[in-house]
Amino acid sequence: MKRKLLLISLVVFAVLMLAACAGAEGPAGPAGPEGPAGPAGEAGPAGPAGPAGPAGEAGPAGPAGPAGEAAMIMASDLSCTECHNDTAIITGKKAPWSTSVHGSGTAAEYAGGRDGCTGCHSGASFSKMVAAGETPATYSGTAADVTHQDCRTCHQIHVTYTSEDWALETTAPVALYAIEGATFDGGNGNLCANCHQPRTTMTATDGVVNWSSTHYGPHHGPQSAMLLGIGGAGPVEGTPSGHYKEVENTCVGCHLGENQNHTFMPTVAACAECHEGVENFDINGVQTEVAEMLTQLEEALVAKGMWDLEADEPVVGEYPEAEAAAMWNYVYIAHEDKSMGVHNAEYTKALLQASLDALQ
Ligand code: HEC
Ligand code: HEC
Ligand code: HEC
Ligand code: HEC
Ligand code: HEC
Ligand code: HEC
Repeated sequence: MKRKLLLISLVVFAVLMLAACAGAEGPAGPAGPEGPAGPAGEAGPAGPAGPAGPAGEAGPAGPAGPAGEAAMIMASDLSCTECHNDTAIITGKKAPWSTSVHGSGTAAEYAGGRDGCTGCHSGASFSKMVAAGETPATYSGTAADVTHQDCRTCHQIHVTYTSEDWALETTAPVALYAIEGATFDGGNGNLCANCHQPRTTMTATDGVVNWSSTHYGPHHGPQSAMLLGIGGAGPVEGTPSGHYKEVENTCVGCHLGENQNHTFMPTVAACAECHEGVENFDINGVQTEVAEMLTQLEEALVAKGMWDLEADEPVVGEYPEAEAAAMWNYVYIAHEDKSMGVHNAEYTKALLQASLDALQ
């Protein structure tokens, strides 16, 4: 990067030298002597100014001399060094990001280029979608050059070329497109909710649900709906969780925390502010309780021939609405939300209880 900065500085330096040389038109004089090539290297102190040559037409540009102090000032005028400098401002985030699912997941390769998927699964498409004011529901297109959910996906990067570009790509409230009338408004977590939202809700015709494919379900990443207490199937009415209402910046508050951790995984430290003496995420045994209920529900679905334990996926078929709702909730909680109750403990447990009751 230093090398690149240096190059840019040198080009700017050379251009300015040229401009300085262009004097008022005078009688044609002999070309000025070429300056000796300076050795490339770390920026040094400014070299002494050369003696003024006789006025004349601008001579041919000499090779650039050594970069001096002036060049460094120009580089910082370009503001690149607000980010590209010898601190860990970029690399310190890049290391954890590259191990995260955003940096290393395989779904980008599989879904990133596809119409209907690219807005969430390719970072560059997401940026285009946001700039066009569209949502994953309306955005249409494919992508030849798929990118992961990288720095440019979430941050503005190379817009003003100043550190202002760390600003998030969008923090506007998100109208969940699969659930009419529902809006996720959770501060900086709104960025996440654009992608981490359900893609469908369950539909029944005459009390029967056609579970048409093993992929039928809310799709991966419906965490925003879970926080709001919606997106499940059946009679349960949920409400937004304490975490939606109380955690500053929702998702970002727990998943990045004070240190802006770019593994995007929550840390216990992020809970301590509100849950005193916390040692793990299983506060009041909620995750244990949810895990037990999920095991019971899975057993009940297997007994009904609705769940294929070996393939770990639904059995395709037509099911009465109440039973289909139980399977929907199982998929929603165990395979898609994956917080084991943390995002919305009350709603998660109520959905599981209603589902167990429906399969009795
Ligand atoms: C807000 C911080 C920021 C500023 C200011 C900034 N950059 Fe970057 N730049 C980045 C990030 C982040 C990346 C991507 C890093 C990565 O993925 O390794 C990047 C990547 C690059 C790359 C690698 C090629 C590419 O596009 O990915 C070049 C070259 C570059 N920047 C040049 C510049 C220049 C020249 C300036 C000033 C005119 C500048 N940057 C200003 C943050 C910044
Ligand atoms: C551009 C869409 C997009 C945005 C914005 C986004 N994500 Fe993701 N996220 C994804 C996708 C897609 C995956 C899965 C990638 C894969 O499997 O290849 C994912 C994976 C994750 C995972 C890992 C899940 C697992 O199964 O281990 C976490 C945690 C996560 N995101 C949290 C967040 C948080 C927190 C934010 C906001 C700061 C956020 N995401 C913003 C699309 C996005
Ligand atoms: C609204 C945004 C959105 C759209 C549109 C979308 N996805 Fe996803 N997808 C996600 C998120 C977010 C995740 C990560 C969820 C998690 O791990 O919690 C994900 C995960 C995945 C995974 C990884 C699942 C796993 O368990 O590892 C696959 C595969 C996938 N999506 C395929 C697709 C395909 C194919 C399409 C288009 C037909 C599509 N997605 C459309 C947001 C989206
Ligand atoms: C999934 C979204 C996401 C991705 C990908 C991502 N970031 Fe971030 N980043 C965030 C969020 C959210 C914050 C916290 C912003 C806040 O709380 O104001 C943040 C904060 C930062 C900050 C602190 C900014 C400041 O104003 O102090 C830096 C620096 C940063 N990220 C660099 C990077 C770099 C470099 C990459 C790529 C390697 C990257 N981020 C990738 C979401 C993301
Ligand atoms: C109260 C803090 C909190 C908030 C707010 C929160 N999460 Fe979580 N999230 C967690 C915890 C804790 C887990 C479970 C981690 C575990 O058990 O390992 C989790 C799990 C997840 C997972 C599954 C990770 C995996 O490895 O399987 C994803 C994806 C996720 N959250 C995304 C989000 C998104 C997106 C938002 C905002 C819409 C959000 N979370 C809001 C704390 C939170
Ligand atoms: C900003 C404050 C705040 C933070 C940070 C926070 N929580 Fe909470 N948590 C709450 C509130 C408020 C409730 C709801 C209390 C109630 O309604 O009884 C709650 C409830 C819970 C519950 C349900 C408890 C029960 O008995 O039903 C669990 C589990 C939980 N939090 C886990 C976590 C985890 C894990 C983290 C960190 C990743 C976390 N919380 C971070 C405020 C917070």
